[in-house]
Amino acid sequence: DEAARSRRIAAAREELGDRVVVLGHNYQRREIVEHADFIGDSYELSKRAAESDADYVVFAGVTFMAESADIITDDDQTVILPSMEASCPMAGMAEAVQVDAAWETLVEESGGKDIVPVTYMNSYADLKAFCASHGGLICTSSNAADAFEWAFERGDAVLFLPDKHLGRNTADDLDIDEVVEWDPWAGDVAESAGAESGEGGEGGGGGGDAAPDIPDLGDAEVILWDGYCQVHERFRVDHVEAAQADGAKVVAHPECRPSVVAAADEVGSTSHICDVVANADPGETWAIGTEVHLARHLARWHPEVDVRPLCGDACMDCNAMRQVDPNYLTWVLEELAAGREPNVVEVAPEEKELAAVALDRMLEL
Ligand code: 13P
Ligand code: SF4
Repeated sequence: DEAARSRRIAAAREELGDRVVVLGHNYQRREIVEHADFIGDSYELSKRAAESDADYVVFAGVTFMAESADIITDDDQTVILPSMEASCPMAGMAEAVQVDAAWETLVEESGGKDIVPVTYMNSYADLKAFCASHGGLICTSSNAADAFEWAFERGDAVLFLPDKHLGRNTADDLDIDEVVEWDPWAGDVAESAGAESGEGGEGGGGGGDAAPDIPDLGDAEVILWDGYCQVHERFRVDHVEAAQADGAKVVAHPECRPSVVAAADEVGSTSHICDVVANADPGETWAIGTEVHLARHLARWHPEVDVRPLCGDACMDCNAMRQVDPNYLTWVLEELAAGREPNVVEVAPEEKELAAVALDRMLEL
């Protein structure tokens, strides 16, 4: 039971002392964050790890976060992920090998434009390395607009990966109109759909019923890779309107659809969402448009504010974050205390070096 598990965690931590630091992402469940030394957003937590002298950084979060911690921390610090199954589906929607394969086509289809790749922190280290080696950088949801501006000082267009909604919301913030969603394989699909239906299927996306639109990249300023967060994408404008009709103000994460972001009262990263609730007047009602566990934490941490999940209690649960079961946290801590190193996340040295370049460019913003 939970009490027995807590005693085991405490015993392992006692044995490890300050050789371990436990990081709990905002989206982790209560039974995890209660054992964390620091709770926060992914980048903030990586910085905390780097500031600590701990040999072991146990990151209760998803793979890309553990990789980022490995990039930022010293070489003698080891990053441990309690579950190796905890992989963000959105990060998996833009694998470096796919982006690399599509790059030449992109440059060709855009008429030889100077394109700067910008990747969201929610991506794997090899994609961050790809961005660095093609003159680009990383951003978080708090500095995406600055990253776009950095890119426009150096090129004609931005390729934003993997999150099309954050990309579109950032372009909207900057009043950029020429935004296209781009699927490098849409041409192949159009062609085969055309062939199946007996039509030509050549370009323009008009080949058959299933043929997608092929956008004109010639005028594009922002090109969006076709990735999205399956948790945030499920919020809809009618959820926002229903909460507002019920007297709540709505704060939404910029991974939500642009229509949801436009209807919300406040928009920002998970840290910003925490700040909004922390600074709310007692008695105010806030509906939280992000992963449900953060809404539940905020309701516990700020009982004077009426905090509720936007869209009920059950549906916006990140199944990648959920892979970090409290039993796995117990297991990795007990293994470390016994002198073994389970579930180490280590980025290959050459990728680490390049990803660090992309990260440094972000830090200079
Ligand atoms: P943060 O960058 O705020 O930690 O968010 C991570 C995330 O997974 C958002 O869906
Ligand atoms: Fe990935 Fe979305 Fe889960 Fe964040 S909430 S880890 S972006 S799937």
